[in-house]
Amino acid sequence: MRKKVTIVGGGNVGATAAHWIASKELADVVLIDIVEGMPQGKGLDLLEAMPIEKRDSYVLGTNDYKDTANSDIVVITAGIARKPGMSRDDLLNTNTKIVREVVENVIVHSPNSILIVVSNPLDAMAQVAYKVSKFSRNRVIGMAGVLDSARFRTFIAQELKVSVENVTAFVLGGHGDTMVPLPRYSTVAGIPITELLPKDRLDAIVQRTRDGGAEIVKYLKTGSAYYAPSAATAEMVEAILKDKKKILPCAIYLEGEYGINGLFVGVPCKLGANGLEQIIQIKLTPEEQAALQKSADSVAELIKVIGI
Ligand code: LAC
Repeated sequence: MRKKVTIVGGGNVGATAAHWIASKELADVVLIDIVEGMPQGKGLDLLEAMPIEKRDSYVLGTNDYKDTANSDIVVITAGIARKPGMSRDDLLNTNTKIVREVVENVIVHSPNSILIVVSNPLDAMAQVAYKVSKFSRNRVIGMAGVLDSARFRTFIAQELKVSVENVTAFVLGGHGDTMVPLPRYSTVAGIPITELLPKDRLDAIVQRTRDGGAEIVKYLKTGSAYYAPSAATAEMVEAILKDKKKILPCAIYLEGEYGINGLFVGVPCKLGANGLEQIIQIKLTPEEQAALQKSADSVAELIKVIGI
């Protein structure tokens, strides 16, 4: 049977995620939004691209959660996006309300689904989805580390003039200004980048990665990034649907791992058919551990505000 992926939110991130997923023929796609006509139009338009792409993915746009029934994965992108000068945290209260409502609907129609949360502020919204759904933690996964590490990989590849395919990179922590890019575990063809780049260049790349979302917001002015965020989402969808056991950085509800308890924070995860299948615990230096804890503390502050 075909797999079914629902994407909640037909804005730029949601619609572009639908595009990647359909064009890779990963699943049939339902795009749902509260705006009347918009998801139907985008869904039909994307469906009509399938003969050209030589893909048999079925795409449907809708305003009705009944159409999302029995999805294998539900991707939540709903919420307002950042405007210049806004931090991801400025979205907190509005998006908490939106994500709560979405999840209440999703769990009625797709009680066995795996949730991938993309709405910002990412780690806090994943926590809202986890608490509202009452799903086991392997079925609620936040997207961000894949995006942040893709940005890191892009900048490393540019700096060293090598193929992006040669670059692996790790970014831990919350999807915010305190995220923790890990140069020691980031490599080019297996060689740690700490061996290849002087400290000042490395520091600059790390900082650009942290500011990667804001850099795009500044250019776009009316919204935030969507190509890379949606591509990152599609990679996670693929890892789960194809049971690839792929290790990707994801936001997960930690229960003592990395010394963090009861909080969504980005860590290396193995994704397969069951969603989160393993949290990979790597050894951190005291400085890295402190940076991760600082990042977790900033997620905890948001959780305190929304009281979930
Ligand atoms: C970014 C926003 C989407 O990092 O969080 O681009």
